[in-house]
Amino acid sequence: MIQCGKGLFTLHTRHTTYQMKAGAHGVLLHTYYGPRVDGCDLSYRIRYVDRGFSPNPEEAGEDRGFSLDVLPQEYSGCGMGDFRLPSLDLELPNGSRAADLRYKSFRVEPGKYALEGLPAFWGEDGETLVVVLEDAAAGVEAELYYGVLEDYDIITRAVKLINRGSAAVKVRQAASLCLDFQREDLDLITFDGKHVLERRPNRGPLLPGVRSVGSVRGSSSHQHNPFVILCEHGAGEDHGLCYGAALLYSGNFQAAAERSQFENIRLTLGIHPWHFCWTLAPGEGFTTPEAALCCSKDGLAVLSHRFHRAIRERLIRDPWAGRPRPVLINNWEATEFSFDAERLVKIAESAAPLGIELFVMDDGWFGARNSDNAGLGDWTVNGEKLPGGLEALASRIRALGMQFGLWMEPEMVNEDSALYRAHPDWALQIPGRAKVRGRQQLALDFSRREVREHIYGALKAVLSSADVSYVKWDVNRSLAAVWSAALPPERQGETYHRCVLGLYSMLEQMRRDFPHMLIEGCSGGGGRFDAGMLYYTPQIWCSDNTDAMDRLRIQYGTSFCYPVCTMGAHVSAVPNAQTGRSVSMETRGVAAMHGTFGYEMDPAEISPEERETVLRQTAFFKEHQGLIYQGDYYRLTDPFQNGPYTAWEHVSPDKREALVSVVSGPVQGGPPLRNLRLKGLDPELCYCVNGESSLPGSALMEAGWPLPMPWGDYQSWQFYLTAIS
Ligand code: GLA
Repeated sequence: MIQCGKGLFTLHTRHTTYQMKAGAHGVLLHTYYGPRVDGCDLSYRIRYVDRGFSPNPEEAGEDRGFSLDVLPQEYSGCGMGDFRLPSLDLELPNGSRAADLRYKSFRVEPGKYALEGLPAFWGEDGETLVVVLEDAAAGVEAELYYGVLEDYDIITRAVKLINRGSAAVKVRQAASLCLDFQREDLDLITFDGKHVLERRPNRGPLLPGVRSVGSVRGSSSHQHNPFVILCEHGAGEDHGLCYGAALLYSGNFQAAAERSQFENIRLTLGIHPWHFCWTLAPGEGFTTPEAALCCSKDGLAVLSHRFHRAIRERLIRDPWAGRPRPVLINNWEATEFSFDAERLVKIAESAAPLGIELFVMDDGWFGARNSDNAGLGDWTVNGEKLPGGLEALASRIRALGMQFGLWMEPEMVNEDSALYRAHPDWALQIPGRAKVRGRQQLALDFSRREVREHIYGALKAVLSSADVSYVKWDVNRSLAAVWSAALPPERQGETYHRCVLGLYSMLEQMRRDFPHMLIEGCSGGGGRFDAGMLYYTPQIWCSDNTDAMDRLRIQYGTSFCYPVCTMGAHVSAVPNAQTGRSVSMETRGVAAMHGTFGYEMDPAEISPEERETVLRQTAFFKEHQGLIYQGDYYRLTDPFQNGPYTAWEHVSPDKREALVSVVSGPVQGGPPLRNLRLKGLDPELCYCVNGESSLPGSALMEAGWPLPMPWGDYQSWQFYLTAIS
């Protein structure tokens, strides 16, 4: 619900309230964001105090209590007396750097706004508030967009800048979100890591100064994620106030939190200002990516539930919102580049009787792609490996009762390719500087329409040549030495963002042309796992690390924002290719059921007992996929605490069904006997556990369920609970 009146703007979701007020001199002040508060102008919380070395704008006259440096701002400027984190930084033709926004007008629109060319939450049931601010000296208007998804407790933000003046203005920074808290006692949680070990939660109190994470790698990155949490020091899974902020963007980003001199906190989130400079000619507009905010006063589990539900139901689009996903098998870890049609069909033949529904042909099917040194960019089927083309293979796979899918990496090129030999300037590289290769490849300049059209034309021909149900869209390097041959010097600062826009436009086109095809995102595993990609690719390969024990941690970190149905998770062969660790087929399966479930191996190479296990796993997963994907997800333990068990739980919305998964770590002599306290059940209902014992929900939640004593390393158990009516 949106309430507006006398310069006061209040946004209510079911459990939260967000408020701002156009105060003295037109400065848009942030008055409150938190648990729901009704019927109140909360600007009484703002105090006006004369602070030394906090300057006053000219309009304030002799009022030394009015300083931009002190007041909580809705969208901060810079260079005009607010020395904290800027949201907006404008360079005018005279070289000055500043931004100073004042209130101009507002409008309320039905439905949740959409952003042209950018991912955004959707929903006709939502509402939109647009508050228009103006920097009169720059001739720039900033339209602050607020989307209210009331039932989801989500508030989204985006900013549209419009040059209403007569001279070009350079936008040096434009955050999607600025959030001023009138308190200092918050922890920041960021999700950090590296290739093959992504999204480890790191939590710490904010100390005076700025703590920021981000990416300047051209994609959202393995190293940091565009999702952060701010929470009270004591907040935990089930209690305490916490805020989450997700950026729907897959390129360079920055999330920064500042604890200022007066013990207030400011959070900003948006495109990273490094190497960003967007020229706005008169009449032109620039729209930031969207950011989504959520608040919970009941701890991190509720915060996650709200993001999960909103992502499942209002970010992922049809036909995949709420739809089951096929159990897949991917040949990469079994064959890498050395395969031909016969080898692939053999894998599919041994997979089909195991209940696996989709066969995915990974890297190596095109051009002269026999290693990672060559072939990227040449998107024509390699006739030696696949005589008869794609359809010849796809029809053999379909004859086995399976769907067919394939891998691609459209944004990249090898120098050893026909494409690069014909168009070296289509790759991003700086003239006069040495090349920077990543995995022996260069990145294509996706800011250029002709580059995108060429690549898309080739891919579309391939996808149209056979019945393809699934695509794995990969990107396997970080960008460096970025310069576009198609942009003038003063617009080079637009290249990174234009490449992301190019990526989004191609994904959108693919969705339009192949509306029933499932696209899975990937970037060397989880290097582009963000809410922006999920708008186009409803699932993303979580990590190149398929070691079950490492995966428990990666998936745990990922779960704070992203729902289980978005996490690509597969069982792979042992010893694991990343860690050398061997874990039983049972436990690998339990770990992979924390995701979209599938296999990366040759099932012909496993024992008859393991084949039996796989058959059981695929049947079990299909039976419970609805519960795993649509249920509320609970983290029952923190795998980073090195406790004896890692456990998680899915509870159906009506609380009549639950699935508890438990994996033990390295065993030790005299292991503790634990009763695992479950969550989210109905205390009044009686539950049957694995078809046997029946216990009240209150007992299972308060007294706990006795876990078996581990015997050997890395064991696993699943407990399926049904309410006895
Ligand atoms: C990336 C992906 C892998 C695989 C290879 C193929 O590393 O994450 O799953 O597709 O590329 O080159």
